[in-house]
Amino acid sequence: MHSLTARRLLLLVSGGIAAYKAPDVVRRLRDAGAEVRVVMTPAATRFVTPLTLQAVSGQDVRVALFDSAAEAAMGHIELARWCDALVVAPASADFIARLRAGLADDLASAVCLASAAPLLIAPAMNQQMWQHPATRENLDVLVARGATVCGPASGSQACGETGPGRMVESEAIVAAAAALFAPGTLAGLRVVVTAGPTREALDPVRYISNHSSGKMGYAVAAAARAAGAEVTLISGPTRLAAPAGVTLVGVESANDMLAAVNDALAACDIFIATAAVADYRPASASENKIKRDGATRTLELVPNPDILANVAARDDAPFTVGFAAETNDVEAYARAKLERKRIDMIAANHVGGELGFDSDDNELTVLWNNGRAPLARASKPALARQLIELVATRYRASRGTGGSA
Ligand code: CTP
Repeated sequence: MHSLTARRLLLLVSGGIAAYKAPDVVRRLRDAGAEVRVVMTPAATRFVTPLTLQAVSGQDVRVALFDSAAEAAMGHIELARWCDALVVAPASADFIARLRAGLADDLASAVCLASAAPLLIAPAMNQQMWQHPATRENLDVLVARGATVCGPASGSQACGETGPGRMVESEAIVAAAAALFAPGTLAGLRVVVTAGPTREALDPVRYISNHSSGKMGYAVAAAARAAGAEVTLISGPTRLAAPAGVTLVGVESANDMLAAVNDALAACDIFIATAAVADYRPASASENKIKRDGATRTLELVPNPDILANVAARDDAPFTVGFAAETNDVEAYARAKLERKRIDMIAANHVGGELGFDSDDNELTVLWNNGRAPLARASKPALARQLIELVATRYRASRGTGGSA
């Protein structure tokens, strides 16, 4: 039995020099047991011929959307339904942008839009194109929607430059395709994540809040979902869309968030608090808009509940993970928070520099009783995936179901 036995994979080949490796990808996917059909973009046919891919796949290769004979044999919607997974290799910067935008004016992108199957993307492009914020943002959006990204590798490029952008080797694509069908590390578990800022009302039109963008929390929710968990995301106001497959509960204030968390905690296995909860709220919110009268005003603030500490103190507490945003003595303060709030794990990050609330990258030091793991600077989705793997390992260790310290 091979890792992809009886899996039906649709390989989408987009235009780039790495398309010459597509026949090898097909061969290796078939060696692993998969049935493979190939769709190429018109640009891809300039780098590798449809005939070559037809020979290695043993199937007709399709390129055109409006090909009536091919559509009669297996229409693009049927093709989209036929496959168990979509593998884009190589994925050019242009094709990634098309996927992000949901375009459907060529066969390859139309099939992707019409399919609910999992999507694996193996990017290949010039290193500058790879590092461009547009490409980074496009991929982040696709990952938030549930796509898996494999690579790219670093090295010398066809264009003569050196850097990240080479398509990973065929073996890595086969392994990533097989992983799409493996049960995730959090399969069968329920995860509740808090995210974003809270807003504490002063009157009907004014509030106290903070700069939290919610990006890290949404990435954590998406990563937990990708690892197979059932995820509820309880979020203060952000500009972000709910990650695919995640239940989003929108809240405003810390008290709202606490109430929503309490509602969601039944049968929760893992609680991850990424929200930047306002520590204080106005002692009273005016029912009507406060009018300007020129007088000096004093604002009385009262403490908000500590949602994370509340959850950790419950008799039926789930495995609890907190975040600590610190400007100085990051690790010492974070470890003190781990102990004070009696939580199982804490992810500490340094804020106040270029990384933090609204940045796309982050770096974390994850701490638990007797252990630590530094996670180097990376995009928030990439860090979230690493964090979720650590959480899964520690969760299993804490429940005595395997894992290492
Ligand atoms: N947290 C929470 N409820 C609060 C405050 C914080 O659930 N009222 C959670 C955050 O989501 C985060 C962790 O507690 O996971 C730590 O938040 P942080 O603001 O760094 O810590 P505080 O306890 O507020 O401590 P301080 O502001 O003094 O650093």
